[in-house]
Amino acid sequence: MHKKQSIHGAWANRWIFILAATGSAVGLGNIWKFPYIAGENGGGAFVLVYLFCILLVGVPIMMAEVLVGRRGRQSPINSMRETAYEAGHHGRWASVGWMGALAGFFIFSFYSVVAGWVLYYIAGMGSGQFIDIGSEQAGQIFNNLLADAETLLIWHTLFVVMVMVVIAGGVNKGLERATRVLMPLLFVLLFVLLVYSANSGYFAEGWDFLFHFEPEALSWNAVLVALGHAFFTLSLGMGSIMAYGSYMGKRDSIGGTVLTIAALDTLVALIAGLAIFPIVFANQLDPGAGPGLMFITLPVAFSQMAGGQVFGFLFFLMVGFAAWTSAISLMEPGAAWLVETLGLSRVRASILLGFIVWALGLLALGSFNVTADWLVFGMTAFDFLDFLTANIMLPLGGFFVALFVGWYLTREMTEDELALRWPLAYEAWRFTIRYIAPSAVAVIFALNLYQKLAA
Ligand code: PHE
Repeated sequence: MHKKQSIHGAWANRWIFILAATGSAVGLGNIWKFPYIAGENGGGAFVLVYLFCILLVGVPIMMAEVLVGRRGRQSPINSMRETAYEAGHHGRWASVGWMGALAGFFIFSFYSVVAGWVLYYIAGMGSGQFIDIGSEQAGQIFNNLLADAETLLIWHTLFVVMVMVVIAGGVNKGLERATRVLMPLLFVLLFVLLVYSANSGYFAEGWDFLFHFEPEALSWNAVLVALGHAFFTLSLGMGSIMAYGSYMGKRDSIGGTVLTIAALDTLVALIAGLAIFPIVFANQLDPGAGPGLMFITLPVAFSQMAGGQVFGFLFFLMVGFAAWTSAISLMEPGAAWLVETLGLSRVRASILLGFIVWALGLLALGSFNVTADWLVFGMTAFDFLDFLTANIMLPLGGFFVALFVGWYLTREMTEDELALRWPLAYEAWRFTIRYIAPSAVAVIFALNLYQKLAA
């Protein structure tokens, strides 16, 4: 039962695992989504709830996912089944893995569209398209891009291909190599940008917006968004972290590793917020501008600041790297399953998956132009896919992982696999995964439903 290694390979060492998982976690969620949903949901109040969700729900569930992956040493679908068998339970737990793989496709489809915008902006910054523009022009450039289905298609396709190439290379020659190159670059770029933003003048206003707590600004819906985002930003509830965990060294400590990943992820989100909001306030722009926040406000700011073109280029380059390493992890659970269960080669698996997510992406892409009036529950396909995954499928996936690991795996299994140094740490984790994490998800779901029904 205790396989030494996955057939797909293993990370070279503990730090590679940390960097790869951080690469999965740090993505558009941190740099594009977090600032704009924080802006829409009242800033500090939202941020506080989000931090609680990361600590009380995200971290314990991430430990649970890594544990299952490393114990099962296979794709999430098969690892769920294997560990359920090991604990003497039914193989239908694999369905949690299935739901995750589906969520991965859905996320990829809109993720890739946004990543396509990023690629367009890298090219635009590089070619000087954004020199000397005001907020009106910046808005126009963004809206013209959204309306231009063909251009979007080109960039979306390019992004899917970039991910396919890495997936086709496999764990060591693909995922690990990308991690080694992209992650250090990402951190360097982030640091450069933080220094730049700290000198932008309005740093204090940005800080205040993110950390000033006003309870009145909070609604139950905002709490659901915060919970959903905690799952999204940590890549939980759909198998990415579980798949990466299955390539982890047997003796590396799960607790410390997971805390490092969660801390890095949170840090990047907060830094992104601290880089973006000062610029928003410096230009009297609206923090609640929605998904366009990063794509409209930042180019304006960059166009007016000394060296802005270079920094703008570097900024979007960094976002592109972050999106790339995350999208790879969205595809890995499915790829591993295809290789294990259907015996496909990595290349074939990546072609098949690439095609599926590319096609699904067309729906998300059309939401801004040709199919803008196809609404599901009053939402465009883009908004619906985002809502369905982040606010429903991921929390639900995480909920079931918590139930599974907390109540169905044996105590010996989890204690042995986590091998936490302090007995108290194990008890605290076990209590959280059995009671706190699942009930937090359940309560937030129930209150939202109640509110929607009452309204
Ligand atoms: N965590 C990534 C981000 O914040 C998105 C993601 C979600 C990646 C789920 C993998 C799985 O951008």
